[in-house]
Amino acid sequence: MVAARITVNGKETPLSPAAPHSTVLDVLRERGLTGTKEGCAEGECGACSVLVARPGVNKPTDWVAVNACLVPAAALDGQEVITAEGLASVDSPGTPPTLHPVQEEMAVRGGSQCGYCTPGFVCSMAAEYYRPDRCAHTHPAGGSDAEHGPNGFDLHALSGNLCRCTGYRPIRDAAYAVGTPTDEDPLARRREQSPPAPVATEYTRDGRTFLRRNTLAETLEVLRERPDAVLVAGSTDWGVEVNIRARRADCVVALDRLPELRELRVASDHIEIGAALTLTEIERRLDGAVPLLADLFPQFASRLIRNGATLGGNLGTGSPIGDSPPVLLALEASVVLADADGEREVPLAEYFTGYRQSVRRPGELIRSVRVPLPLSPVAAFHKIAKRRFDDISSVAVAFALGIEDGIVRKARIGLGGVAATPIRAIATEAALEGRPWTAETVEAAVPVLRSEGTPMSDHRASAAYRSAMLGQSLRKLYTRTTEAVSS
Ligand code: FES
Ligand code: FES
Repeated sequence: MVAARITVNGKETPLSPAAPHSTVLDVLRERGLTGTKEGCAEGECGACSVLVARPGVNKPTDWVAVNACLVPAAALDGQEVITAEGLASVDSPGTPPTLHPVQEEMAVRGGSQCGYCTPGFVCSMAAEYYRPDRCAHTHPAGGSDAEHGPNGFDLHALSGNLCRCTGYRPIRDAAYAVGTPTDEDPLARRREQSPPAPVATEYTRDGRTFLRRNTLAETLEVLRERPDAVLVAGSTDWGVEVNIRARRADCVVALDRLPELRELRVASDHIEIGAALTLTEIERRLDGAVPLLADLFPQFASRLIRNGATLGGNLGTGSPIGDSPPVLLALEASVVLADADGEREVPLAEYFTGYRQSVRRPGELIRSVRVPLPLSPVAAFHKIAKRRFDDISSVAVAFALGIEDGIVRKARIGLGGVAATPIRAIATEAALEGRPWTAETVEAAVPVLRSEGTPMSDHRASAAYRSAMLGQSLRKLYTRTTEAVSS
């Protein structure tokens, strides 16, 4: 096996002597690329944002911004990374660099004061600058909406970047002023070729190994031998464990580039979503085809996290406050589990067995998520958190209702943050089904919904608040649906 190496700003750099758990951020800074900063080391500030060449949605390659503090450097063996230093170009040695267009706009519009956050903002902004269909979202009248600039710039691209001193208006001004890449732009041209293929990696130091195989069958054989291995895709959860809780694993196995886990298929009776597709890929490829998922994605962490996070990871960690389980429960999804002996399909409602526990056995991985069709037409995801974006739920509620002739024919409700596991609100579903969709029915169901689960009080919210928010959520859904009918 060839020694692990990463191409950074066009130059190959060996991974050694980094440890298998060392992050991309560690390796970059050790190589002198100190523009990439550490702020929080847990995916919440974006100071560490860098660009990675990944399989594209509309072109062979997309430049995708990720949190370098979370991704193990070994996960990028054979891959290409661009840092803020690599965006500027040096025309001849000894001359000052020519700023990249996003750097130029940040400079002239006052988007940087202390500058600590700036390289991260610049990388996130550059990823959006190079998004192939960005200008397709340009407002027809040349104006903008609350989250898009007149140049089609989607502000969610910056939802994972924090700035402590500049204030966000000049940064937004810079984002909304960037033009389109020229034909000579090397990173724009790079999008026309395929990204580097994933490389089989076995990177071992001091008895610890980071491992990637090229196929599902090979990976499942590894897991048969190493059922204790930690499975990672985007490492958006494991990276926090490594950095903040100093956890180490003897063996980490990467799943994010396995082709069998990266398929998205629409059949007549279900949609199958590969467990290793990132949330951004699912969002862009489904393009609103599952409205409840479309409601979820903008509220799930930040664009930087969604560029790495997967449904497989969110279900695999089994967190009771993960945002995708309530939605997938309301959609009546199931998970396809695979091990070296075969596959089985488990309804998500039967998947969670306790706090961060599930029916997934050692040696098994989540291969895909199946969403049955047809979808219930009335759907909404309400996330109650302290911030609108890039926050953790206090409570999350997902509704999927079938209402015909004013009668609730079917109700599925998924809840997060009110029990040791994500749960279905079974009693509330029964309180709604077969009844007219009226204010009286809703008011009768509110106390039922408020009594679902066993909410607890912690630093995010009290039990009473969580319970109250459940009831308010149902009222909000009713108000929204009746407003939609009457407007
Ligand atoms: Fe804050 Fe990486 S250092 S997101
Ligand atoms: Fe200081 Fe953003 S310019 S943190």
